[in-house]
Amino acid sequence: MVILGIETSCDETAISLLEVNNAGGKPVFRVLGNAVNSQIDLHRQYGGVFPNLAKREHAKNLVGLLSQCLDEAGLSKKKDRQEIESGLRAQISKILEREGGLESALAAFLSENSKPDIDLISVTHGPGLEPALWVGVNFASALSLSWNVPVVPANHMEGHILASIVPLGPSPASLPDISFPLVALLVSGGHTELVLAKDWQNYEIVGQTKDDAAGEAFDKVARVLGLPYPGGPQISKLAREARENNIPGHFKFPRPMLHSPDLDFSFSGLKTSVLYAVKNTGNLSKELAMDAAREFEDAAVEVLVSKSIKAIEKFAAKTFIIGGGVSANTRLKEEMRRAISVRSPETAFMAPPPDLSTDNAVMIAAAGYFRRNEARLASELNLSAKGNLKLHVN
Ligand code: KG4
Ligand code: ZN
Repeated sequence: MVILGIETSCDETAISLLEVNNAGGKPVFRVLGNAVNSQIDLHRQYGGVFPNLAKREHAKNLVGLLSQCLDEAGLSKKKDRQEIESGLRAQISKILEREGGLESALAAFLSENSKPDIDLISVTHGPGLEPALWVGVNFASALSLSWNVPVVPANHMEGHILASIVPLGPSPASLPDISFPLVALLVSGGHTELVLAKDWQNYEIVGQTKDDAAGEAFDKVARVLGLPYPGGPQISKLAREARENNIPGHFKFPRPMLHSPDLDFSFSGLKTSVLYAVKNTGNLSKELAMDAAREFEDAAVEVLVSKSIKAIEKFAAKTFIIGGGVSANTRLKEEMRRAISVRSPETAFMAPPPDLSTDNAVMIAAAGYFRRNEARLASELNLSAKGNLKLHVN
């Protein structure tokens, strides 16, 4: 089967096409198309993501990305221009009435393209920024109606988990055997949580941040250091320079909740410590900024690794995975690998490939595959955006 993935939960508009074949009971995956449009440059001038701006950009980009992705996959079916039937046009107008120019862009696309050979649409319905999520959800509904293809609502966080497990590359590869229980550390701009999975789709959140998400802390500290949004990669680069050049240590930041008996996190105090330390310094030299970035990264990584090991030990995890934007952080991956090899060498460690660490629609298509039994035509599903959607037991 071929699955169309749609992702618009934050500041990346993404479309994917994922082929899944069943070989002797084992699914074999192959990515046919993967198109991502990042709005980072736009949001950078505001220092963060503005939901309504994100929504407008998604609406502007979705049809172009769909077209690009179908071309990449060789699934486009161009036809002689022919206006779409007026009843369908009216229904699409109704679904997309709040999505700006998306309605006319889709109508133009449908008048020039026949239905491609796809079997399922998988769309992120949460968690994320609601105005942004709605664009994707409504786009999926309009496509389901136009093509008579069922749609399945996907959980963005389940997508981040699957990005580490499912082989999502351009060559066919089968799903590896996974040993449960599995513990996942999900770290992104909006989330920091430890998830226990006793089996596929049987999730329990066993620890989470009490205030800021880890990615949010990276972004805020970057701003304090005068670095552009998103801060994660910037901090990481500066910290690496500090290590490579053996910059002397000047700052010392706290490791919040490092020794608390639970599996929860807190990053807001750490961020405030950086803020005050930098303020007290006055004129921040490049060397001091490098030191602050390194010390902040070390502090955040130490807490994330320590709580992950605690969770692995507590639940005797056979598999540990890391996912979400912050899992692109090399230091975090290295320290996690090292700690697991010492403290729990039997636990398998899996991380997503760098291009699938941050938001993408390939992981959303994969999430839709595992929930394909929940797929319905949009007319039979009450699809809606759920900003605070939680991972749940199936
Ligand atoms: O998963 P994601 O793309 O979007 C959300 O769902 O939030 O995560 C984005 C977050 C941002 O806060 C960004 O600063 C962070 O991931 N990030 C990183 C790195 N690359 C991205 N944080 C630390 N180190 C990195 N290399
Ligand atoms: Zn994400």
